[in-house]
Amino acid sequence: MSKDNRKRIIEMLSNSGEEFISGESISKELGISRAAVWKHINYLKENGYEIEAINKKGYRIVDVNSDVIIPEQITVNLDTKFVGQNIRYFHELDSTNNYAKEKFEELEDGSLVISESQTAGKGRLGKNWQSNPGEGIWMSTVLKPDIPVYKAPFLTLVAGAAILNAFRNLGVDAKIKWPNDIVLNGKKICGILTEMVAEVEKVGCVVIGMGINVNTMLFPGELSEKATSLKKEGFEVKKSDIIREIMHEFEKLYIPYIEYGSRDEIIGVCRKHSVLIGKDVYVIKKEHREKVYCMDISDDGNLIVKHVDGEIEEIISGEVSVRGQNGYI
Ligand code: BTN
Repeated sequence: MSKDNRKRIIEMLSNSGEEFISGESISKELGISRAAVWKHINYLKENGYEIEAINKKGYRIVDVNSDVIIPEQITVNLDTKFVGQNIRYFHELDSTNNYAKEKFEELEDGSLVISESQTAGKGRLGKNWQSNPGEGIWMSTVLKPDIPVYKAPFLTLVAGAAILNAFRNLGVDAKIKWPNDIVLNGKKICGILTEMVAEVEKVGCVVIGMGINVNTMLFPGELSEKATSLKKEGFEVKKSDIIREIMHEFEKLYIPYIEYGSRDEIIGVCRKHSVLIGKDVYVIKKEHREKVYCMDISDDGNLIVKHVDGEIEEIISGEVSVRGQNGYI
């Protein structure tokens, strides 16, 4: 069964709204048999689409199960050149970042690896990332930019700004906790983990992992203090809409950064929606913890802080974590 035809069928059914479309018109439009149309419809039914079929009238979509991710539903109206256009979808992986790094040579630039669950989801600084089935979006974008290694870490901020823009398009007013946490109502809703496969002085591949808590209602232990989900905060948004929107917003910022080094818009979004700027926080590096005042994010994407003795320093994201005075922020 061709995926392109399946995508066209979803497109036709989505565009016709409440109207039925006959099996015959689908088969004529795509140049395939009625039996092939029927097989595609059955596949969609088994994969989260509720489709009403009435004799002599045809088919229409009644509902889409928002708990599962349907790759074709992401790409159906995705207007990017390459980001998110090729999707590898799994029910379970150890980690989408690991898979992307292992297979990057066979994956096209801009490919997206998605898994409904991860058995060894990874967070920053060696932490683990809770990735239960149905609860969130666990995905990694594979990028093969022709840039020197030092330019790659900035891609975390490109992803952060893209996620903020995407959430805003969907009516979710999220913020960013530099460098890689997306925050909603003071709690973490999404984390970004950027990893790189480097060749000599040049990037072979950058993998940007994004974990978004969508439906989680219970977080264990100390996570309950600092993490939240879209559902917990009262938002019902379809996972495929979130992913499509992120891919769209990411490419808009990514191409100008790679081609012309454009950073202004990205930094602008991160500054505007920062939860740290103007706050006293603790910067933690290994065992060392120091209270500083956050002044700004620099044009290079570093955090500009003022120490208690008045010294001003630019902090590079690498090995630090930032904590609020009384908890997460
Ligand atoms: C963090 O905030 O510490 C980063 C969390 C990143 C989690 C995502 S989920 C998809 C991808 N695969 C992983 O193993 N981790 C990232």
